[in-house]
Amino acid sequence: MSNVALALLVVAAAAGVALSLPPASLAVTSTYVRPKPRATLSLLVHDADGQTPQQVHISAVGSDKMRVSWITDDDAPATVEYGRTSGQYPFSATGNTITYSYFLYHSGKIHDAVIGPLEPSTTYYYRCSNNTSREFSFRTPPASLPVKFVVVGDLGQTGWTKSTLQHIAAADYDMLLLPGDLSYADFYQPRWDSYGRLVEPLASARPWMVTEGNHEVEKIVPLLHPQPFKAYNARWRMPYDAGASPSGSNLYYSFDVAGGAVHVIMLGSYTGYAVGTAQHRWLQRDLAAIDRGKTAFVVALVHAPWYNSNRAHQREGDAMRAAMEALLYGARVDAVFAGHVHAYERFSRVYGGREDPCGPLHVTIGDGGNREGLAERYTDPQPATSAFREASFGHGRLEVVNATHARWTWRRNDDDEAVVADQLWITSLASNPACSNE
Ligand SMILES: [Fe+2]
Repeated sequence: MSNVALALLVVAAAAGVALSLPPASLAVTSTYVRPKPRATLSLLVHDADGQTPQQVHISAVGSDKMRVSWITDDDAPATVEYGRTSGQYPFSATGNTITYSYFLYHSGKIHDAVIGPLEPSTTYYYRCSNNTSREFSFRTPPASLPVKFVVVGDLGQTGWTKSTLQHIAAADYDMLLLPGDLSYADFYQPRWDSYGRLVEPLASARPWMVTEGNHEVEKIVPLLHPQPFKAYNARWRMPYDAGASPSGSNLYYSFDVAGGAVHVIMLGSYTGYAVGTAQHRWLQRDLAAIDRGKTAFVVALVHAPWYNSNRAHQREGDAMRAAMEALLYGARVDAVFAGHVHAYERFSRVYGGREDPCGPLHVTIGDGGNREGLAERYTDPQPATSAFREASFGHGRLEVVNATHARWTWRRNDDDEAVVADQLWITSLASNPACSNE
């Protein structure tokens, strides 16, 4: 989109004019192609003593609580002390500690504790396991709009991951959403620890809300390790038992943000999703409970994309789309973000394979920087529903400005600057009378 067209969109949006997505005639296959993948980083070692917390990350629980997760090598209390002033911790909470083994690997002590109630849009300082050597801080999300999300998938831990994280760190945002494929540990468990250390500066400061990708399954020898998602579930526990419609599974869940103005649905591509499965039944319940009079935007995240014109992972999301697309369409879900394909692609509003003004915007954002490199080959010609596609590493930002408008931007890393390469305004389907499903 040209700068002039964008400026017109911004002016129109500011004036409250309902905007639709650009017509497919503006479909763009960007010619920008990044340099080759950067090498996997050497494992980030932890050289502090066994009581020192490491791999700290947080996730939102309900409207006013936060789960703090961290690991110590040795036994240590699962206690978080916290407060609003650095160095002063008038509050504390104690949670649980677990460990797991995977072949010859034995995890450290994996702790988590839920703290709160917390004030919105407030910075809290905290320390873990009563350890005085490391203080962390986070900012809670706002209780109302506007709210700013970062969306990035397939992160891994390469030089490109590092540059993506640097660009995200420079953003002012409230919450990070990750549609699967975190560490690319791929059975080698020390890489999960290394990943935890790599993302800690960001993940300890803003809630990281994640769902699983294929790299989280780690089920290679059914007899020895019949239980999939062993490391993922132990290390990245999400609030599946909180909120209005608890799912009972760490592999899919939902939550409200900004006082319920935004509802985020995390779907699981690698657990049952067919009609009649627990996930499918839960999704029906979850969508039925949404009051679009109060919830301006509903977004869903999934790993394998339901719409994809990249040659990589063609049609892998088709079965899930067949099972669930009508549910999301009926609830007027505004956008679906996917990972898996290591490139960026934005579709028009689509449903049933065709443009539909009441269907979700579909975006593939599996371009965080993993070691498998970019997916550079696309189908030709570009489908009419594909509005923009480019094989570069980068990240997305979704800023829900008010009850009718959200701004989506995609920034390619472009070596060492986060260049804005694609952006548009999204109008809430709940505010569009033509899409009323009353
Ligand atoms: Fe994947």
